[in-house]
Amino acid sequence: MKRYHPVLVTLHWLLAALVLGGLVMGGQVLAKTPNTDPAKLFSLKMHMSIGIVILVLMLLRLVIRFATQKPPHADIGNDLLNKGGVGAHYMLYAMVIAMGASGLAIANIAGLPAIVFFGSGEALPADFNDIAPRAAHGILALVLKLVIAAHVLAALYHQYVRKDSLFSRMWYGER
Ligand code: HEM
Ligand code: HEM
Repeated sequence: MKRYHPVLVTLHWLLAALVLGGLVMGGQVLAKTPNTDPAKLFSLKMHMSIGIVILVLMLLRLVIRFATQKPPHADIGNDLLNKGGVGAHYMLYAMVIAMGASGLAIANIAGLPAIVFFGSGEALPADFNDIAPRAAHGILALVLKLVIAAHVLAALYHQYVRKDSLFSRMWYGER
């Protein structure tokens, strides 16, 4: 077994783009737009919709991962680092799912579904700062960025320093 299942490959790269987009837009646009700005509703609608899609696709990817055969874990020649690599992959799943869950919790507590998706016409709260899952969502975003940075560096190290063609495992071709 040389490669991940093609559905997992597609979901990996699609999710990578969506998660990076969600992190950048969430931090640089959404969080910086005051709730009094009329543009906030659209920004929330986009962020929440994409966030829910990410959550559903990530859960689906986890199910498909356990249901399909995958290549043996990459060997970096050090037991501790090998275990770290496996742990980091589980962390990525856990962090993204926790981002989605905490986002849903903020939305639920602030009554956002009615305001954002069903045009209830109610005003947004002045901000989301008093909502506990909002703090969790921000901290998780920071930790997720660090884990993704480590993930990308590890992938590049495999590919270009160890030259073990790691990227081909997460690409299409004969399995
Ligand atoms: C941004 C969000 C990302 C997430 C959430 C993510 C998540 C994951 C996960 C969980 C795996 C393990 C495979 C599995 O268990 O299904 C994986 C593998 C992989 N990722 Fe990512 N990834 C992301 C971005 C990236 C980026 C930007 C790159 C490249 C620069 C990359 C390169 C790889 C490679 C090469 C593998 C294969 C590792 C192996 O064969 O063991 N990933 N990714
Ligand atoms: C799963 C992927 C998600 C990612 C990567 C993500 C990312 C982010 C980021 C980076 C921020 C800004 C954090 C900060 O600067 O402190 C943010 C804020 C927020 N997110 Fe998400 N999010 C996701 C899912 C969701 C979901 C599913 C919802 C709701 C259904 C949601 C609702 C919110 C809300 C309400 C805020 C606060 C905006 C503000 O303070 O004005 N997020 N998100």
